[in-house]
Amino acid sequence: MSCRIAPSVLSADLDRLREQVEQAVAGGAEWIHVDVMDGHFVPNLTFGAPLIRALRRITDRPLDVHLMVQHPERYITEYADAGAAVFTFHPEATVHVQRHLSAVREHGMLAGLALNPASPLALIEEVVGDLDLVLVMSVNPGYGGQSYLPASTDKIRRTRALLDRHRSRAALEVDGGITADTIAEPWGAGADTFVAGTAVFGANDPAQAVRALSRRCAVRV
Ligand code: DX5
Ligand code: ZN
Repeated sequence: MSCRIAPSVLSADLDRLREQVEQAVAGGAEWIHVDVMDGHFVPNLTFGAPLIRALRRITDRPLDVHLMVQHPERYITEYADAGAAVFTFHPEATVHVQRHLSAVREHGMLAGLALNPASPLALIEEVVGDLDLVLVMSVNPGYGGQSYLPASTDKIRRTRALLDRHRSRAALEVDGGITADTIAEPWGAGADTFVAGTAVFGANDPAQAVRALSRRCAVRV
């Protein structure tokens, strides 16, 4: 099982964004996670296409865009043009999920669905074949620096079983409260991609923090 680290720039010093991203990439970060929030689907309001364009100029690493917004379909074309590589949205935030997943792929991006802690796997079962990524939220979305919800581990295990039943090659990403102390459990449950905001950009040395996360992946629990 691979162990891809995707640092979230929500926790970065935006006045040192280039430096911070370069440090995380130097430590082995494979993707850069971009948390877009609209202040409606989640209480917080963050950033959008301008930051994606700035990150495209900073790094060649895939931009893993996580939309915590109502009507995410409104942003597919703009974010593809801005350089997003992964477009993950919440099925709770729109109506025609399968249509929008197809549109994401037609725009050349990987299509992902994110599930809130209380949202059942049933929300993705009918569209597993349309997915390149499933994002299991291990915190309630809206803010960095929260603690990993222990119930997430069983959900990750069930998500891995669902993907395996469908012979899906979709990535299984976990988002929220991932630190060197918590990552081994979701990795052991079948996750292969890990968002880490505070654990990376809250550290004095983001490169070292990414390396520490990667090392903990290899530990069997
Ligand atoms: C929360 C975001 C997460 C968050 C992760 O709504 O989706 O990506 O930034 O931050 P940490 O790793 O600090 O929990
Ligand atoms: Zn996120």
